[in-house]
Amino acid sequence: MKKVITYGTYDLLHEGHLNLLRRAKELGDYLIVGVTSDSFDQERGKLNVHNNVLERIQAIKDTGFADEVIIEEHIGQKIDDIQFHQIDVFAIGSDWEGKFDYLKEYCEVVYLPRTEGISSTMLRAGKDRVFKLGIIGSGRIANRFVPEARYVSRVEVVSIYNPDSSEAFEFKQRFGLNESHSDLSEFYKNIDAVYIASPHLTHYEYIKSSLLNGKHVLCEIPLCLKGEEAKEVYELAKSRNLVLLEACKTAFCPAFLHLVRIIKSGIIGDVVDVQASLSKLVDRSMREFNGSEAGGSITELSPLPLMVILKLLGRKIKNVTYYSLFENDVDIFTKGIFTFSGAVASITIGLGVKTEGNLVVSGTKGYLYVPSPWWKTEYFEIRYEDQNNNRKFYYHFAEEGLRYEIQEFISMIAGQRTSTYKMKAEESITIADIIECFRKGENLTRL
Ligand code: CTP
Repeated sequence: MKKVITYGTYDLLHEGHLNLLRRAKELGDYLIVGVTSDSFDQERGKLNVHNNVLERIQAIKDTGFADEVIIEEHIGQKIDDIQFHQIDVFAIGSDWEGKFDYLKEYCEVVYLPRTEGISSTMLRAGKDRVFKLGIIGSGRIANRFVPEARYVSRVEVVSIYNPDSSEAFEFKQRFGLNESHSDLSEFYKNIDAVYIASPHLTHYEYIKSSLLNGKHVLCEIPLCLKGEEAKEVYELAKSRNLVLLEACKTAFCPAFLHLVRIIKSGIIGDVVDVQASLSKLVDRSMREFNGSEAGGSITELSPLPLMVILKLLGRKIKNVTYYSLFENDVDIFTKGIFTFSGAVASITIGLGVKTEGNLVVSGTKGYLYVPSPWWKTEYFEIRYEDQNNNRKFYYHFAEEGLRYEIQEFISMIAGQRTSTYKMKAEESITIADIIECFRKGENLTRL
């Protein structure tokens, strides 16, 4: 019996897939179809697949061409599958010409003609409404945002607002956007959603004004500098049925989401200690060192480690203590200690002090270690007393990693979901509360 294998995502199954499967089947007597798992697709950058793996498998079965369906979960699996199933022919569409020649060592490799004029990408584009997004603020992070947004379907960055019209124009030209504005009401006219990447002190007003103009909002960290302000804007968003999301990028990245799930499942026992460090040495001429622009380690850096602590230990903080080194009126280094019932957490952050940026979560059975930079989680280890039980987990964190938060934001808008477990309103409000208390000097010892 001649066995043939082929692989694909097979999203929104179409004529091109059917032709490919028919031709593959004709190459032998028995056809195995490998369907990519949802997490494998995510990992290789396919963030917009419509059908989940079960739906895609069912669609393949319904074609009647497959004698067997398997799931493809990781890179390199094809070699295993070919050997295990004793495959004679590996077949794939001609868009992959040459890419799988390395499999010739194991079986015959055939590139079948691809059907012109149709693809899942095309079908997804036709089905989906594309949301128009405008950016407020054209600084460093906004420059990283536009290229990342291009990896996410259903969103088009069309416009930029900056009170300085020449800066706005320059940004528009750099990225080939449709519009640049220095007048907010004009800016709001042709967009569905806003990404706020302006200086911290302006976030609250821009969030309010965007929501009042009916726009969904993705706002950079820190969302607000006061708990009450954060609460107010979330209530406003809810009352208007609009999405408001804090762009706390780590919270959306696949490896970090898995890390939280693993810890919650009890793999290291009860969590007793969370230590998160993060430092970024910044030139003293930058905004981060300017007290009048709410600079400082806490406002710049704390939302990311605080988000981790709140996710792992909850929001019932019993006691807080800070030790900070100040330069002028800016904390260039802060160690914060937070106690919970049965647990403690600490953040060590600095703009003028460099430290190892790792994350350690200690539990009653073992601990989790994420090397620097944990905020771009790609790899982590679970370690035990008996080292033989240690486990390592690897993932792919794509470039700047902003695409994950953009993807969640757009899928919330499209799915009319105003909340997400990935970054909850309550978590953003608690972070704003913590920042506010620090800025008031509560529980703070100056070093
Ligand atoms: N295929 C084909 N003709 C098409 C589209 C896909 O022959 N018009 C083949 C691919 O070459 C591959 C298989 O179908 O062998 C599964 O491809 P998949 O990536 O799932 O389909 P696409 O429509 O190309 O998906 P996307 O647009 O998401 O890349």
